[in-house]
Amino acid sequence: MRTVLVLNGPNLDKLGTREPMVYGNTTIADISAMCVSFGADHDMSVDFRQTNSEAELIGWLHEAAETSTPVVMNPAAFTHYSVAIRDAAAMLTAPLIEVHLSNPLAREEFRHTSLISGIAHGTISGFGAQSYILALQALATL
Ligand code: DQA
Repeated sequence: MRTVLVLNGPNLDKLGTREPMVYGNTTIADISAMCVSFGADHDMSVDFRQTNSEAELIGWLHEAAETSTPVVMNPAAFTHYSVAIRDAAAMLTAPLIEVHLSNPLAREEFRHTSLISGIAHGTISGFGAQSYILALQALATL
């Protein structure tokens, strides 16, 4: 069974109550359960994590690089400005899929730039919690 890391950045711990008109009512615990269950049905062990700390997220990316583990990542706000997250993600050797619940390109202009997309295998945005499942599905077929 292969392990897949699903990494989540800042404020995603507040899903469910955070701007529900944008992000819906699904909590991070719900998304974690969906991902773990999808993984179990597709021979994948899903290790789902969330942090508000840039340093911790960088540490997890280093771990994934050292172990050649595929990553699904919602970098949240770090997407738009963190060169440090991009640099850490650039070290990955297994595929990286960038995910977003919302479609950042349909939102404020400052969200139109992703420092991650250019080094990701692909990006899935705008499908709510389903974005994560589509990303795991993509990984399962890569
Ligand atoms: C997000 C989009 C980002 O612009 C925002 O900063 C987030 C969530 C999304 O999943 O839609 O925190 O990554």
